[in-house]
Amino acid sequence: STRLASTSPRSEFSILSDADISYFERILPKGSVKTDTEDVKEYNIDWMKQYEGYGKCVLLPTHEDQISEILKYCMKKKLALVPQAGNTGLVGGSIPVHDEIVLSVKKLKNFRDFDREQGVLTCDAGFILHDLDEYIKEFEYMMPFNLGAKGSCLIGGNIATCAGGIRLLRYGSLHAHLLGLHAAIPNEKGEVLRLGSTLPKDNTSLHLHHLFLGSEGQLGVITRVTLKTVPRPKSVQSAMLGTNSFKNVRELLALAKIQLAEILSSFEFLDRDTMNCLEDNLQLKDVLPTKSEFNVLVETSGSNSEHDKAKVENFLQDCMDKKLIDDGILAESVSEAQTMWRLREDAPMAVSRDGYVFKHDLSLPLEHFYELTEACRDKFGKMTKRISTYGHVGDGNTHLNITINRGDDREQLYKCLYPFIYEWTVKHGGSISAEHGIGRMKRPYAHLGKDSVERDTVIRLKKLFDPSGPEGPTTMFFLAPKLPYST
Ligand code: FAD
Ligand code: MLT
Ligand code: ZN
Repeated sequence: STRLASTSPRSEFSILSDADISYFERILPKGSVKTDTEDVKEYNIDWMKQYEGYGKCVLLPTHEDQISEILKYCMKKKLALVPQAGNTGLVGGSIPVHDEIVLSVKKLKNFRDFDREQGVLTCDAGFILHDLDEYIKEFEYMMPFNLGAKGSCLIGGNIATCAGGIRLLRYGSLHAHLLGLHAAIPNEKGEVLRLGSTLPKDNTSLHLHHLFLGSEGQLGVITRVTLKTVPRPKSVQSAMLGTNSFKNVRELLALAKIQLAEILSSFEFLDRDTMNCLEDNLQLKDVLPTKSEFNVLVETSGSNSEHDKAKVENFLQDCMDKKLIDDGILAESVSEAQTMWRLREDAPMAVSRDGYVFKHDLSLPLEHFYELTEACRDKFGKMTKRISTYGHVGDGNTHLNITINRGDDREQLYKCLYPFIYEWTVKHGGSISAEHGIGRMKRPYAHLGKDSVERDTVIRLKKLFDPSGPEGPTTMFFLAPKLPYST
């Protein structure tokens, strides 16, 4: 196989038996237990097709009670499992490491309710992000976050990863929106935690539901979520700007924050290598003729298109006058805006078609934001096919993608690339995971920059939720194959 198999030893969880499968078939609706090799395949391979698990069984419960029964049974029988939602995660965390059961929440989508006065959405974990956005559109509300995977990621997975995306700059992280959730926790009683409430303000307890944001399946299975959504903007403007230095990109961001102020909703960027990658792999071309080193995609969201357009036009003119950009255009129609956004949203697909990708999702102070890409080009340029960077520059979140030809030796590069990039990031005050999580990919490096008191506290918390999950650097947890502080 060309995929990465696990190098960590299988810990002492049980091997699935025919009796276990019969039990699951008894408690779940017909067709909800998959064991056929072909049927379970897609649940064992991640979106990037880089990691492979060997799970023999996929469970597709339709109700929270069934999930609680599954966890109760698995804990009693010492069977390990991994929760999965849309399987669009980019760190290999949604698939088995060995032969764990996959517990998919894909069919958990019975309940959906919207409080139109408060803009509060409550729904089961299995709804697709885009479908939820369409559902609340009729009430003139919008989901407070958006990402390229919106057509396939599920809300349960979004909460479990604390997904960021392209509007965090405007609406803040999911911490600002998550009001409550239900989670089935892995104990022999089959307990379900019902946390928070549907109230925008509620300080009556520890905000335990926030522990599940970015928990990546380590604490329990999220079954239902309550989120505060945002009023849907009546006017959305998109503009593409071209410039030749990253210093200018930073100045553009500072200017956009001041001039576009309350209507600024996105500030994304793509470097020249990403643009070339889009053209080579997906035949998507620049919208600007200047072929600048950096393309910046700015979006505003407001309520008055005349006002918003005038603001963006003035901003573009000012950028030209200050010689911060070579060129810039404002989309004149929805389809022109879509063409601009396609470039940004299809960047992950373009790099994944380019070859074998070493993917990164880093937070960095803006002063160091692009230096790392340049340092990688100096150090690894000769050993690689392409080094391209795009990302949410407005949030200080860079996606550095390094590709090699599929047949090339990746072991050698892997060994020097990851320590270099992660150590560089931590040394420069950054984070090795801005929004994708730790998963399987970053497990060996997750301790970087964390002190022992934090690590111990996290391990103790994990034990509280998942008491039978083994600990230690080479074992895996019962609930999820994550070991965040493994060395
Ligand atoms: P999955 O991939 O199925 O699972 C992700 C993790 O959550 C796994 O560790 C899994 O075990 C755990 N999990 C899943 N469901 C549950 C549950 N019900 N309870 C407990 N744990 C659970 N991410 C961003 O943050 N910003 C982006 O802009 C962005 N853009 C993307 C664009 C593309 C094209 C792609 C392919 C991915 C992108 N991602 C982005 C990554 C990914 O889409 C997000 O991480 C997303 O939130 C994952 O949701 P999912 O439903 O696919 O979860
Ligand atoms: C994005 O911003 O496009 C996503 O996080 C996916 C990626 O990093 O490729
Ligand atoms: Zn991203």
